[in-house]
Amino acid sequence: MQKRENPYTPGAGRKPPMLAGRDGDLENFQGLIERLTAGRYERSLIYSGLRGVGKTVLLMELDVLASEAGWASTDVQEVGSQPDFRVTFARMAARLLREMSRPHRIKERVDRALSVVKAFSIVAPAGVQFKLDVDAASGVADSGDPEQDLSDLVQEIGEVAQATSAGALFLIDEMHNLDSASLAAICIAFQAVSRRGLPVALVGAGLPDLQVRLMSAKPYADRLFEYHELGRLSDAAARAALIQPAAARGVELEEQAAQAVLHESAGYPYFLQEYGLELWNHAETSPITTSDVDAVREIVTDSLARNFFGTRFQLATDAEQRYLAAMASLGEPPYATGEVARAYGARDQRGVSILRDALIQKGIIWAPRRGRLDFTVPLFAEYLRENHPLSAFGES
Ligand SMILES: Nc1ncnc2c1ncn2[C@@H]1O[C@H](COP(=O)(O)OP(=O)(O)O)[C@@H](O)[C@H]1O
Ligand SMILES: [Mg+2]
Repeated sequence: MQKRENPYTPGAGRKPPMLAGRDGDLENFQGLIERLTAGRYERSLIYSGLRGVGKTVLLMELDVLASEAGWASTDVQEVGSQPDFRVTFARMAARLLREMSRPHRIKERVDRALSVVKAFSIVAPAGVQFKLDVDAASGVADSGDPEQDLSDLVQEIGEVAQATSAGALFLIDEMHNLDSASLAAICIAFQAVSRRGLPVALVGAGLPDLQVRLMSAKPYADRLFEYHELGRLSDAAARAALIQPAAARGVELEEQAAQAVLHESAGYPYFLQEYGLELWNHAETSPITTSDVDAVREIVTDSLARNFFGTRFQLATDAEQRYLAAMASLGEPPYATGEVARAYGARDQRGVSILRDALIQKGIIWAPRRGRLDFTVPLFAEYLRENHPLSAFGES
């Protein structure tokens, strides 16, 4: 078992050797592409879930499917790093147009659309940092009203896509980062293309509250998108994710060893990959046994603490970290905000609501219901109690 042949891929957005448990999603998307290409109506897709469940790598796979069907795709784009979402959209639009112009000899039409991208980007406050060799269009996508302009822009893309007899796909990751106004503009734009039957689709992914955020931005977002929640893998899928990559290289896992790993990783893809990686590195011969699992358990825990949990924890300020520890001290999620405030040692809730809001903003916690809180990272409570217990924070 050569280390360099290790097939496992723990890490955000790292394409796994086997995409387990997603066949239904891939088929569903294939159907969407076919129907939109044929000029029929189809809702765009929103995927939500905790960190490490495989949202990003699923989007990457949809990108491949779209390309195979001859569609142009933005590639997976993470939003929220730019102060204005229009910068990201202008970039995505330019990319889609360039991709569509190449095989289809529709340069003139694409240039006209690029002039719309330019008009769109000029009115965005931050301006757009890339060069477009066309003059800005006038009267389209240049009103300065993000809702109107994005709608113009996406329809422009849709018209070009229609001329290619294929389609255009926007893949938007970490979509919960967008504020309500940006989400509303996206709803309006995709409502407009679907009303006109243009072959444009959006697949968005984000933390579990993305659906609620979309619906509070535009109530009809409810019907505009098809929502899917990604969670832990089913037993069969988790087993395949763990066993199949090794088996493909002639390495077996003893049944008991497999069961131990499945149990400890609770079906979360990130944890399965981490275990797989360390087992492969540790074991000398096939089959991998329970004593191998025992031997790597601590390495796996340490590695997750550093790379998966720790990176999130470090995003929080000292006071926010104390708030996280207070949550975890209450046992298993979800937590009532009042109880968290008490555990934190706050005199009243208002005193700590700033911390709560900042942690939600940073995507570390979320509110499954009003007055309830949960972590966005699976099994985070356990990690916190183990590594950062509330008692370690002293008096508040
Ligand atoms: N369906 C899957 N089967 C096996 N491994 C997966 C699957 N989905 C994701 N992974 C692995 O899980 C980890 C997290 O995936 P990622 O897409 O970054 O999650 P998210 O975007 O939801 O945080 C990566 O190491 C990836 O290789
Ligand atoms: Mg991701």
